[in-house]
Amino acid sequence: MNVRKLDRVIPSVAASDGAGVKLRRSLGSNPHARHDPFLMLDEFYSDDPDDYLAGFPSHPHRGFETVTYMLDGHMRHEDSGGNRGDLGPGDVQWMTAARGLVHSEMPQQTEGRMRGFQLWLNLPAREKMKPAAYCDIPAAKIPVADAGEGVRVKVIAGALAQDGKETKGPIEGLSTDPRFFDVHLASKAVFEAPVPAGHNAFLYAYEGETFVGMERQKLAHRAAGLLAQGDTVRIEAGDGGARVLLLAGRPIREPVVQYGPFVMSTREEIEQAVRDYQAGAMTRDPVRRIRVA
Ligand code: CO
Repeated sequence: MNVRKLDRVIPSVAASDGAGVKLRRSLGSNPHARHDPFLMLDEFYSDDPDDYLAGFPSHPHRGFETVTYMLDGHMRHEDSGGNRGDLGPGDVQWMTAARGLVHSEMPQQTEGRMRGFQLWLNLPAREKMKPAAYCDIPAAKIPVADAGEGVRVKVIAGALAQDGKETKGPIEGLSTDPRFFDVHLASKAVFEAPVPAGHNAFLYAYEGETFVGMERQKLAHRAAGLLAQGDTVRIEAGDGGARVLLLAGRPIREPVVQYGPFVMSTREEIEQAVRDYQAGAMTRDPVRRIRVA
């Protein structure tokens, strides 16, 4: 067993996106703050409607996948393929923008807490121009694994293997083979699980105190902690317990050229994306809805 150490910390910075939604951006806060295949992680968290009411009106994407994970609040998404879905607490939307679409994500509440995450996951060059697709995954379809004393894990993508038991999340079979776990730890609880050697992995500590690896290195609150290579992830909570996202994926190892909501491999492909968007091509393509078993 080779337990992954904390290798590098990317603090989150205050940012604003959409029509002025206030959020914290860790991964993606600058072009050097990525962890292949992960491009960006935003946390939105506010009790003040002024921070979120403006929402994310119509905007395009091409070349990667977006994952929205709601903790509190209610958001509605609509896309150029005529699809619409509602996300409530614990729900996930997994969208493969690929060739492109135009969508919006708007709050359906005028007060109370809005809290959740948006993750951007890259696609390999050969998949960037495949048709767009998405699925809404209700919280009830996301398995929760008992992962040792005082540890519960929501398995959103990939499989969690522990003590000969495997818990499979609703998202599987992507070429980046992602793991997306939301780990809830009681006071002083320890979570230890295998993560494929060769995958890039990181943690995002969003509640409580988190200590990483055998050395128990402290990970700052609301920061992304990139992990060194190894085959096992180990985290420990402080006195007050902790909640931590664990993300891991197979690196793509290709150039990343980003221009706003387009992420391609070359500058020419970005120019093509801008032309296609301006010509309305991204609003004409179908967006397939994937059923979750
Ligand atoms: Co979007």
